[in-house]
Formats: sequence, C-alpha cells, structure tokens
Amino acid sequence: MSFIPFNRASLTGREFDYMQQAIDMMHISGDGPFTKKCSALLEQALGVPKVLLTTSCTHALEMAALLLNIQPGDEVIVPSFTFVTTVNAFVLRGAKPVFIDIRPDTLNLDETKFERLVTPRTRAIVVMHYAGVGCEMDAVQDIAERHGVAVVEDNAHGLFGKYQGRYLGTFGCLASQSFHETKNFTCGEGGALLINDPRYIERAEIIREKGTNRSRFFRGQVDKYTWVDLGSSYLPSDILAAFLYAQLEARDQIQADRRRVWDYYRDNLQDWAGANDIRLPIVPGHCEQPYHLFYLLLPSLQQRQDFIAHLKARDVLSVFHYLPLHLSEMGQRLGGKPADCPVTEEVSDRLVRLPLYNSLTQDDQRRAVSQIKEFSCSRPLK
Ligand SMILES: Cc1ncc(COP(=O)(O)O)c(C=O)c1O
Repeated sequence: MSFIPFNRASLTGREFDYMQQAIDMMHISGDGPFTKKCSALLEQALGVPKVLLTTSCTHALEMAALLLNIQPGDEVIVPSFTFVTTVNAFVLRGAKPVFIDIRPDTLNLDETKFERLVTPRTRAIVVMHYAGVGCEMDAVQDIAERHGVAVVEDNAHGLFGKYQGRYLGTFGCLASQSFHETKNFTCGEGGALLINDPRYIERAEIIREKGTNRSRFFRGQVDKYTWVDLGSSYLPSDILAAFLYAQLEARDQIQADRRRVWDYYRDNLQDWAGANDIRLPIVPGHCEQPYHLFYLLLPSLQQRQDFIAHLKARDVLSVFHYLPLHLSEMGQRLGGKPADCPVTEEVSDRLVRLPLYNSLTQDDQRRAVSQIKEFSCSRPLK
C-alpha cells in the first residue's frame, strides 16, 4: 500500500514545454512573455485592473505594506488564525498588529469584532479568506470605509473563489496570491499582487523593480532608468512564469479535480462526523469556494492528536494548521496574551487537514476515507 501524502504538486502537462520556450526565447529574467501572459490571464479572468507577478505571496504583502506607506506606530488589524506572513509583512514596516478573533463557522475573521478594534492609528485591515471561503466583505468594507481604513486581502487560499458572486482578491485596494507548491496553482514558489485601486499601479511597478523606474524605461516612457523610491527584488524569473502559465491555463481541469476530491470527503464523511461530534467545513451559500483544503474539527486537542497518529500509522498524512499568532513568541512580544482570541485558540487545537491534491486518485481517497472512519472519538466524560 502506498503512502498518501498530505499534498503533492501536480503537473498539467505543458509546464516543461513552456519553460523550454522561455529558455529558447532567452528571456529568463523577469517580466518576459510568460510573466505578461500570466498577468493578462489573471487580469482578464478576475477583472482586476493590474496584476503583478511576484516571487511569493509574502512579497506581494510586503509590497502592499510599502504601497500603503505603513509607518512605525501604525496599527494594522489582522486575524491571529493565519500564516505568519499576513502579519509580518506589516510588522516589517514597524506596524503594531492588532489581532482579531475568527468566526466559529467559516474560521474567517469575525467582522462583528472589527469596529471595536479601530483606533485613530488604525491604517489597514488584512483579511484572509480561510480555505478560500470569503470573509464577510460587505460588513468589512462598510466599517473600513466609514473609518478610512485600507482593506488588503491575503487571498493565498482563494484564487477563483467568490463572495456574493464577485471574485476574492477584487475587494481590497490590494490583494495577494500565492503560487507556492501547496496551493491550487503553483510554480514552486511564486505569488501575485492584485491592484484594484489604479492609483497604486505605477508605484507598485517601481517597488517590484528595486525602487527603480525600469518598467517605464522598457516601455519607452523615460530615456534612462534610475532609483526613485523604496523597493526590492520582487520579480520572478520568466521560467517560473512559464510553469505557472501552464497551470493557470488548465484552471478548469485543476478546479474540477479538486472539487471531486472535496465533494467525496464531504459526502462520505458526513455521517461518521455527525456520530463522532466532528465538524466538517462550513461554506455559506453566498460563497463559492475554490476547493483549496478540507478540514475536520475534532472535539479536543487530544482527539485531534490521536486522529493524526491513527492515520499516520496507516500511511495517510493529515496535518494541523495555524498556531495562534498572538500566542507565538513574537506575537507575545508584541503584546498578545492568552484568551485574546478564544475561538482561534480553540480551533487551532482541534483542526486537522486531510490529503487534498489534484492527482489524488479515487482508490487512494477511498482508502484514506475508510481509514478515517475507523477512528471514533470516545465521548468526553460529563
Ligand atoms: C494565508 C497565507 N498567506 C500567505 C502565505 C505565504 O505564501 P508564500 O509562500 O507564497 O509567500 C501562506 C502560505 O502558505 C498562507 O497560507
């Protein structure tokens, strides 16, 4: 019996062909033909004014912090239940993170707790659409607008997901995507900055090109290029963009494969979960998810650990997810304390993610599901 990993990057078939083309054209640095094709595809598919490929989602978020001119002492509201990058990109500019708890249903930030965290120093809120299920953007945007707070979306999980019929990544003035190996679409390491407010476009190009106006120079808009602003090296090689283009072109197939896997888990685990006090993911009717991950919420930390060990002993890898950032070493140094975000603290202990990748075969998934169902939670003593 083969080992079933938690994640496996899948090829669509055209990656090497396109990488070869990039090499044949001898444009292997950034902003070559494939970088432009990826940007154009995403701009068109999502209806975003400008998409800039970046070396990672982390770097797209760092660019967002630079574009918003985040300064030491500014406050940025961020979920505690997220990847470190969502927060670190802003802390790097000197911001103070203000952690917001999550909703118990979608595990997205709890918009009803947003307004009370706003102070005169609040500059931005960074929403992260967990599992690609949209945050309650109507409420978030309403509060943000009333208080003059910028909305940034960390959409690492959510490419092609929708909230109220509108693509995730198109709500904030800026949004980030990840093309890391663990994401639905990948080039190993990569990302994108989605720019919904056109006022940021020109400066974003400069920041991505080490603080120079090189992009304007290549378009013939200036006759030499020079250092004009802050910036760094956030532009990926066209070889990686070529790999990514093959994946983005095959988006319908990739999403259909992931949907098949996700639906199979839901359909086949529902009864078992109900009998064992285990909760499956909740996707509200007004959200369309991109099938990024499938999680279970076990009744307790101990049962979650027992479940992971049970599957591991049967060659199936399941993994927990984010640890509360406000309780991390750095989070506590920045003022985080136990009980600041009680839902985050509880969910983080109880959550486990199941294997989900495009090429997970039905045979392997059937085997994983039957081994999952061998596990039963002994009821907690009353
Ligand atoms: C929510 C979230 N944001 C950002 C990132 C960072 O992405 P990258 O590795 O592309 O920098 C991740 C990575 O898993 C993530 O889960």
